[in-house]
This record gives sequence, structure tokens and C-alpha cells, in this order.
Amino acid sequence: MNMMDDVLISQLPPDILKSSLRALVSQNASSQKVFVEHVRILLRASLPAYPSPSELFGSRPCYTQFLASIRCLFTSKMAIESLPYFTHFLSCIPLAQTQWQPNDKLELALEEACGDIVQAIQALKELRSTPTEQLRECLLSLNSSINNCDVYSVSNNLQFPFVRARLQVDDALHLIFPDARLHHYPIDHGMKLNKRGVNPDIATYANLEHVELGPLKVPRIFNGLWQLSSPAWGTASIYKQHMDFEQLIRIGFVATDMADHYGDAELVYGSFRNQLPLEIGANVIACSKWCVFGPPAKPVTPDFVMEAVLERSRRLGGRVELLQFHWYDYEAKDYLRTLVELVKITKSHPHLVTAIGLCNFDSHHTEEVCQYLLREINEVGIVSNQIQYSLIDSRPTIKMEAVCQKYGVKLLTYGSFCGGFFSDKWLDADAPNIYSEKAQLTPSQRKYFDMINNWGSWDDFHALLRTLKRIAIKHNVDLANVAARWVLNRPSVGAVIAGTRAGISNNSESNLKTFSLTLDAEDTNQLDEYALGNRAQMLYNKIGDCGSEYRQ
Ligand SMILES: NC(=O)c1ccc[n+]([C@@H]2O[C@H](COP(=O)([O-])OP(=O)(O)OC[C@H]3O[C@@H](n4cnc5c(N)ncnc54)[C@H](OP(=O)(O)O)[C@@H]3O)[C@@H](O)[C@H]2O)c1
Repeated sequence: MNMMDDVLISQLPPDILKSSLRALVSQNASSQKVFVEHVRILLRASLPAYPSPSELFGSRPCYTQFLASIRCLFTSKMAIESLPYFTHFLSCIPLAQTQWQPNDKLELALEEACGDIVQAIQALKELRSTPTEQLRECLLSLNSSINNCDVYSVSNNLQFPFVRARLQVDDALHLIFPDARLHHYPIDHGMKLNKRGVNPDIATYANLEHVELGPLKVPRIFNGLWQLSSPAWGTASIYKQHMDFEQLIRIGFVATDMADHYGDAELVYGSFRNQLPLEIGANVIACSKWCVFGPPAKPVTPDFVMEAVLERSRRLGGRVELLQFHWYDYEAKDYLRTLVELVKITKSHPHLVTAIGLCNFDSHHTEEVCQYLLREINEVGIVSNQIQYSLIDSRPTIKMEAVCQKYGVKLLTYGSFCGGFFSDKWLDADAPNIYSEKAQLTPSQRKYFDMINNWGSWDDFHALLRTLKRIAIKHNVDLANVAARWVLNRPSVGAVIAGTRAGISNNSESNLKTFSLTLDAEDTNQLDEYALGNRAQMLYNKIGDCGSEYRQ
């Protein structure tokens, strides 16, 4: 190591050191590997100690540091090693006779711990962990410490904070050890879902715009649950999440987008839907995804496809209304047969899946799929394609819109709120330092900040924000509504998906206003100036057609 660098590292204040590490790791895949490997060696050499129940939750509690040290384990690919620590943490709660109050510091920390367990188990599932006896033991012990904590909470009149963790652990056991026998607990909401509260507000419903996706009639704004993939967006208990869903349903936002890999989104949403009165639950539209990110572990056969469908419907505890399919490599042509199978399943097993869509397919391959399906089964079969579309990503205008119009496919768009950058908060604000601890950016903001940089400069972005604000003031709406309305007005756009931090913020009242907004020709021309023409072509040339960023 260069001597000057050595001195620099030893003298830097921690915030600059952290920011520099983030820059290094995010800009260079090989340094990311070295970093994680090095951290793992050090963590293995000094694994956290197990504090006693009174140390963890006593008069000078140390649960915050303990949870931080477990977080280091599972985020450095040591998910299995983290499980006994979670088990210990949960076992200490009854032993220390721990008490908490709604929203006090401890309850919020327990909710965060629950989010951490969800994340650790998700990592474990994604690593396709080998079903060893050690892993079975770890999961069963965690499951039983969760159940003991539930019994303790109920008998002490405390709201049980680990429902999401239980759903996720049970799901992992089901996947990895299908023979494990588990008791299924009902979700006790404490406050209970207000059955009358989920009744639709008829007046609001009447003002919503809807669109047909094959046999489905859906509102033109969906709720998006990518935000449940990581505690980096903040963590909420299942009760708070369900209350948000309840509010969204009441005002008519009944369609929700999620995916197999969005943490516990399918489990949380499924458990919500299954508590609704039947007549209301029947109108809820669950849109999930089957994302094949690498060569499948098994040959692509009708049974393999059915397994994937059954898996989604099991996790949702019922039907998937729209199943969107992502495929990793256009050279591996199995996706064509898979799509034929999926469409066939909508007919043979309508109780499992209603309609099929694509996810992040480019124009050429969307057309290829439509033609193949027409040849094989005499119908287009797919109803939608989910892609990024916003004022700063107008690549779909180059080819995608025309393909969709030709075959009657609707676009479901993400990034239309630019990860939250299309809001008053960012008017006249400096560009965020994405590596700084203080910036507190969500993963969506990180993603779309990159997109802003591809599209233009921060000054250009400010000019766009100011234009949005002027139009918003003219129509008495929020600037986010103007951005969403512009996308909704584009040809073939079925709906925009609004990222929703369920239990934390859902922006539903604001998003409702999108439906009362009509952009006039002058507004549209002003916005087109930022989005269309050379900009769209430049982005298309620079990053490729829709979805190509997922296949590099
Ligand atoms: N298929 C894919 O590859 C893919 C990729 C990305 C996303 N998606 C799907 O699309 C959904 C949306 O995408 P996204 O989350 O990446 O981007 P997004 O919807 O552009 O950004 C989400 C953020 O926008 C903010 N927002 C929403 N409505 C707002 C309003 N009226 N006023 C102010 N801010 C508002 C919220 O910020 P606050 O939370 O701070 O309020 C929210 O977290 C995801 O949840 C996911 O379901 C799919």
C-alpha cells in the first residue's frame, strides 16, 4: 500500500471514510468482492458475544449494538450464522420480561429487528442454501423462539412485533424443508382490520380511471412494493402495513405490484388480502412476477412452469391476478415456450393465475413473443409489459409504444415518480451526495439519481422540476401528479406504478389528484421538450432499449 494512502486512511474522520468506501465499492465490482471477503474474515474471527437477557433489555440495554452486529453478519453473506443470534434475541424478550408501548423506542427497535430477520431469511432463500441438518435446526429454533415470544406478548397484552418474521421463516422452512410440520397462526391485529373500513368509498371510486388488461379491469395507478425488499426504505410492522393497504383499497387503489424477490411482499400482501371480507378481497388485484435471472436449475418443462405458478399462488395464499415474467437472456429461447405454458395455465387453472404479462422485455423481443404466441396458440396471450417510463426515461417512445399498439399490449410503468425526486422536496435543492451517510437516500433514489445523470445535468433536472411546479400550480395539484399524468397520457400506457413504503408513506391522497388533472397542449409541449426528441434517442443509444440495463 502507498504510504500516503495508509496515513490518509488512519487520519480520515469516520464519515469521510464511509463515504469513500461506498464510492470504491459501488464503482468497482472486484473491490466490492475484496471488501466483503475481508469483512467476513474479520467478523468470523470475532463473532459477537451472547449478552444475557438482563444485559440486552435491562436498565442499560445493549440491544441496539447487538442488532447492529447481527446486521453486519447477514449483510456480509453470513445469513446462516446470523440465525442463532436472532433466536437468542427473541428468547431473551420473555426471559427479561421485556415490556413495550405502541411506537415507543423499544417497539420500533423490535419492528426493525423483525425487518432484519425478513432480510436475513430472504438472503438465505436467494442463496439457495443447501438443506443441511444445521440449517433445519437453526430455522426450527428461530421459529420456536418467535412462537414463544408470541405467547409471551399475548399473555402480557403487548402487540406481537414479529409476524412478518414468522411468515418469512415459515416460508423458508416450506421451501427448503417441505416436510417440516408447522403450526399456522392467525395474524392477531390487536386493533383488527376494520371490516367496514375497507369498504370502498364509492364517490372516490367513481373518479378513478381504469384500464382493461385482458380480463382484468384495473385502476390506472398501482401500488408498488419493491419498497418492501429492504429495510433501507425503513421498516414497519405488518399491522401498519395492513392499515396502509386498507386505506389504499378504500380509495380504490386495489392493484398492487410485487415480485418473487421483493422480500416478504407476497406474504404480507397475501395475508392482508386473506383477511378481507370475501366480496372485497375478490376485487383486489395482486400482480406478482416470476423473475428468472439466470439459467434455470431444472429443464424448462410444463411441470417446471406450473411449479413457479403454484409457488406464487401459495405465497399469496390465493390467485395471482397478473403474473409478469422476466427472463435473463434473449439467446436462451426457452422463454418463448415458457410463455406459451403460462398462457395455457390461465385457461386450465384460472383459480391460480388470471393473466400473463412481461417484465422488462425490449421492443424487439416483445414483438417476437407476440408473434410466437399468435403462431402457437392463435392469440397474443400477454396483456402487459412492465418497464421504466418517465419524463427522464422516454426510451419507450422510440419503438416500444408502437409495438404495444400493434399487439394491444399495455405498458405498466415504474420510475414514473423518479424514485421520489419529482417532489417539492427537491425544488432548488443541491444534488445529493449519494455516498454520504447524511443523504439518507432510499434505494429508489439511488437508482433514479443514476438515471437523472444519464438524462442530463442536475441543472437541467431543476429546470424540469420548476416546469412541473408551474404546471402543478396552474392546475392546483402536486408536481408528482403532473409527472404521472404525462406518462399516463402516452400511447399504450395502461397504468403507472407508484412505489409505496407500506406502513411508512403511501402518497395515496396526492396520487388520487392525478385523475382530476388534464394537461393542455401548452403543458404537454413544455414537458415534451424535456422528454422527447433528441433526449429519448440519446438515452436509447446510451443505455439501450427498455430493460436492457437488466441484461448487461
Ligand atoms: N420491473 C422492474 O424492474 C421494476 C423496477 C423498479 C420498480 N418496479 C416496480 O415499480 C414500483 C415503482 O417504482 P419505483 O419505486 O422504483 O419508482 P417510483 O415509483 O418512481 O418512486 C417511488 C417513490 O416515489 C415517491 N412518490 C410516489 N408518489 C408520490 C407523490 N404523489 N408525491 C411525492 N412522492 C411520491 C415515494 O417517495 P416516499 O416513499 O419518500 O414518499 C416513493 O417511495 C416499485 O415499487 C415496483 O413495484 C419494478
